[in-house]
Amino acid sequence: MKLAVVILAAGRGERMGSPLPKVLHGIFDKPMLQCVIDSAERLRPLRIVAVVGKHFKEIKKSIKPGNILFAVQKKPNGTGDALLRAKTLLKDFRGTILVLNGDVPLITSETLKKFLSLHQTGRNHISLISFAATNPASYGRILRDRNSCINAIVEDKDATEAQRKITEVNSGVYAIESGVLSLLKEIPLNIAKGEYYLTDIIGIAGNKGYKMNACCIGSEDEMMGVNTASELMKARKIFRERLANAWIKKGVTFLDHDSIFISGNVVIGKNTIIYPDVCLEGRTEIGSGCTIYPNVRIVDSVIKDGVVVKDSTVIEGSIVRAKAVVGPFAHIRPGCDIGSETKIGNFVEIKKSLIGDRTKASHLSYLGDASIGKGVNIGAGTITCNYDGKKKSRTTIEDGAFIGSDTQLVAPVRVGKGAYIGAGSTITKCVPAMSLSVSRADQKNIEGWAIKRQFKVQNSKFKINKKKRK
Ligand code: UD1
Ligand code: CA
Repeated sequence: MKLAVVILAAGRGERMGSPLPKVLHGIFDKPMLQCVIDSAERLRPLRIVAVVGKHFKEIKKSIKPGNILFAVQKKPNGTGDALLRAKTLLKDFRGTILVLNGDVPLITSETLKKFLSLHQTGRNHISLISFAATNPASYGRILRDRNSCINAIVEDKDATEAQRKITEVNSGVYAIESGVLSLLKEIPLNIAKGEYYLTDIIGIAGNKGYKMNACCIGSEDEMMGVNTASELMKARKIFRERLANAWIKKGVTFLDHDSIFISGNVVIGKNTIIYPDVCLEGRTEIGSGCTIYPNVRIVDSVIKDGVVVKDSTVIEGSIVRAKAVVGPFAHIRPGCDIGSETKIGNFVEIKKSLIGDRTKASHLSYLGDASIGKGVNIGAGTITCNYDGKKKSRTTIEDGAFIGSDTQLVAPVRVGKGAYIGAGSTITKCVPAMSLSVSRADQKNIEGWAIKRQFKVQNSKFKINKKKRK
């Protein structure tokens, strides 16, 4: 089948009550229009045309660069007029045109494939997907003749009381043979709405004896159109449930799947447990047997098998290797590679750093632009001073080194293999392997000092009291 896709996305979207173009509202981290484009791309069509309106530039910027052609509908004169705007870009195309709505974001390529094969085997000129709606008010109703063949679509506004009772509705997904597109010109203006309705093509084609079919294969959840903010909320909920159920089937456990956010590109391994309020975003991969505790956000990162991410931790653009433990309250910023069985604890911030296997940074540290070896101990309060106000420099800590608490490592600096740094040191020079470096002032003990002080205080109080009595 020669296939082209047209996505109608130029509508006003007034019912959303938002300045953002409707099709750019997101189902999680993806605009609705991108969800539709992604499903269309999986069908490998010869071309995809998106019909966009006055927000053309904004829409183009928000969509993944790809093989999308844009047709502009300057005024939103209705869905019939919108499809007509795509005609120039389809002039040389002969085959089937799949028309999708940019505000029907949950549609899957599986359903579209099934639909196109029904269209093809039925040798129809026009087919559409219909579904049974529990609340059909915001959709066009499917009218069928005595032989149950579709012969018209009537919008809610224009429907009679009897027609409003029909629950089979139009999803806005059509397959139209290119030869039939010329009928678009015959669509009359709907005076009440001031628009040309694409749905009117059904009545026109029916009168001319074209072969048509309404395939009632859609589920209400998948086919829902998003016209208002509350419908968008509902679509997000359905999307979340769809994703969560797919992962549950693959052996992932969610303690509360209503509170999680997983983007469509995330991969999760078997026997991983995910607690409430977890966001897994972008191209994130979670291994098997991991535990992700509450309030964790992981973006564009790879988490290997058996990792534990404790509460309120953020991991961005990094890799965490097998059996590492990160958090609670840790921030792994982009460009980190955290070794296996390594422990990153409370209030530790790490940026652009390599941390070797079995290294520990358990409390209150900043490690930026650092290369830290295996089996290193980073004491509480360690800071790599990586920025001199002009440029960033690196800190290198070799295998087995011991960094005492409250150490500042002023980069560029290197601590050799197995070296020790005494607590409270400011290290500005390289430390040779297997040595001890202490940079704090020597400790002075003044014996009896506290007793003398106490005596002085008592004496001065006595003098004051004496003055008062006088
Ligand atoms: C439309 C259908 C309705 C169907 C429903 C499915 C018509 C007249 N009605 O109604 O039968 O049940 O979708 O969700 O087609 N658009 C343009 N240019 C325009 C107007 C709209 O590109 O001038 C685009 C919108 O951006 C949107 C799509 O077409 O993506 C549908 O438009 P919308 O106004 O939402 O139509 P509905 O009232 O939902
Ligand atoms: Ca709609």
